[in-house]
Amino acid sequence: MAGVSVATVSRVINQNGYVTKDTEQKVRKVIELLHYEPNAVARGLAGKQTGTIAFILPDISNPFFPEVARAVEDVAQAHGYTVILCNSDDEGHKERSYIEVLKKKYIDGIIFASNTMGQEDMQKLYHIDDLPVVALDRAPTNQTCSVIRSKNYAGAQMAVNHLLSIGCRKIAHIYGPPQFVTARERLAGYQELVKKFPWYSPDLMVPGNFHLDGGMKAAEQLLRAHPDVDGIFAGNDLMALGALKTMSRLGIRVPEQISICGFDGIALTAVTEPELTTIAQPIYEMGATAARVLIEKIQGNDTNAQEYELEVELVERGTTRKKVT
Ligand code: RIB
Repeated sequence: MAGVSVATVSRVINQNGYVTKDTEQKVRKVIELLHYEPNAVARGLAGKQTGTIAFILPDISNPFFPEVARAVEDVAQAHGYTVILCNSDDEGHKERSYIEVLKKKYIDGIIFASNTMGQEDMQKLYHIDDLPVVALDRAPTNQTCSVIRSKNYAGAQMAVNHLLSIGCRKIAHIYGPPQFVTARERLAGYQELVKKFPWYSPDLMVPGNFHLDGGMKAAEQLLRAHPDVDGIFAGNDLMALGALKTMSRLGIRVPEQISICGFDGIALTAVTEPELTTIAQPIYEMGATAARVLIEKIQGNDTNAQEYELEVELVERGTTRKKVT
């Protein structure tokens, strides 16, 4: 209709290459007339980019991941990319089926927080299709791609040292599912510090599930076995909030009788009364860094895999006693 070649229309749409003003006006007029929009999948098939990235996250019901996704989306949109969010419920088969679907959509890259996606899947995904991939948070070990995560071990020791510094004399740990490397590292950080104390006992470490109910049950179990526990470090904020709920139900005063410290720094920690003391991960920075690293890869500017270990910080609030000065 515009009387020009496909290549000329492409130059007008992509604003690259020379086109006379007159030709550009003719093409734009026909685009408007036809309400034409470039087809992202067709562009993908032509080996161009579709301007789409995916973020495969393991648990959309845990506020930590939507807060990461917020940052991913902000950075992606600032660079002209759309984000597809995929919730895998930490199930490997869901992750693999998402990847198969995403590959058919010719997306430009994937960020994922997974512990079930093993090396062979990563190799297959990453090497055969050369699809740019960045791992985040619960990343399997020895990745072929860049990994963005927090200093979980150091953060756990920060929590225990804080509880010791405010005078706690028997500190327990509610740990997350051991299949998650983040939970294992926090458990190790706790255990390395407390095992030297005379009050240390293996049943001071109680399993949770990274959710509120797991924290509630673990706190009940702890108090039955050790009614003299006066400090609890929980491996994530939801379990810490669960422990707080259990104390309230049992009429145990926090922090007067028991101090509680969480891990993540999700916004919910500022909603409870008392507000939760926690080890805050740089959640926004984690998501933003993952998006920036992925986009660098997509644009071919950065090929070396790198590990980004981000600093965490103690956020002192009402569930821990104040230091005696
Ligand atoms: O709260 C969810 C947990 O899973 C976070 O601590 C995050 O690090 C992930 O591992």
